[in-house]
Amino acid sequence: MGKIKKIGVLTSGGDAPGMNAAIRAVVRTAIFHGLEVVGIRHGYNGMINGHFKDMKTYSVSDILAKGGTILKTARSEEFRTVAGRKLAYANLKKEKIDAVVVIGGDGSLTGARMFCDEYYDIPFVGIPGSIDNDIFGTDYAIGYDTALNTVIEAVDKIRDTASSHNRLFFIEVMGRDAGFIAMHSGIACGAEAIFIPEVKNQVSGLKDYLEKGFKRRKSSNIIIVAEGDDEGGAMEIAEKVKDDFKEYDVRVSILGHIQRGGSPSAYDRVSASKFGYYAVEALLDDQKSVMIGFKNGEIVHVPFSKIIKMHKAVEAPLIKMAEILSV
Ligand code: F6P
Repeated sequence: MGKIKKIGVLTSGGDAPGMNAAIRAVVRTAIFHGLEVVGIRHGYNGMINGHFKDMKTYSVSDILAKGGTILKTARSEEFRTVAGRKLAYANLKKEKIDAVVVIGGDGSLTGARMFCDEYYDIPFVGIPGSIDNDIFGTDYAIGYDTALNTVIEAVDKIRDTASSHNRLFFIEVMGRDAGFIAMHSGIACGAEAIFIPEVKNQVSGLKDYLEKGFKRRKSSNIIIVAEGDDEGGAMEIAEKVKDDFKEYDVRVSILGHIQRGGSPSAYDRVSASKFGYYAVEALLDDQKSVMIGFKNGEIVHVPFSKIIKMHKAVEAPLIKMAEILSV
């Protein structure tokens, strides 16, 4: 690998609060080391279409507190193809980009891995960015803390109505394949039940549970449902149980994309800044095909190959704990 002179940085997949803090850290750390930095716009699509933008220190001024991503993002179908990656490689070469930092989730890092398997002379380093927090190899992904706090604020508000009207609310949160947001927000809000993709067939248990709660005169019931639950989203689950619980007034609330937006929390800003800083340091240390992550509070370098093969699931002891606490 020759000496790195110019690096590219991009955000890919779903936006997450804190991505801007990571971009800022990458740009400023690279400039500190005398490197040039290019922002690649709209994720991998920008690589394929040559949408590059020189980044200076001032290009990342006043973005630390902003949600979304100033570089824009996309889920690129074209980058999944050999032809797409070939075009991307040609454009990186033309732009004289020697290395790339990718900020994104599972799919984005899989794309990085595929590219690095085909083209050896442009190293990639990844930064985990996904509100779902479901990336293997890191305890934490950028955006998760902010999303969790957004959910908690919303659920607390809904609880007021649920208690005032004796209602049963099904609240759907994001998480296509994993229940981290559901499990952690459910614990934080004292949800009566938490439906996650990792636990199958929860609807039948809910019926028993609600019956007991009804006898104990619970004034409200909040059921958090991860959108990727095996028995459907909040709407479908509410439909399945509503006839069994005529005594409750059932309502559904889908929190949707409010979970992805907003100013990042302090934790997201600090974590994203660390990830950005260490991503550039890793490239300068001749590392490639690794994602920067946290394990037990320490920075780790996780090979792309591991991230892609392994699945990260919600901490099993929490499932039991949540059940005990929700009585
Ligand atoms: O991966 C992040 C995520 O927010 C998921 O939780 C959700 O299923 C998905 O993105 C939604 O994607 P889109 O914004 O494309 O609808």
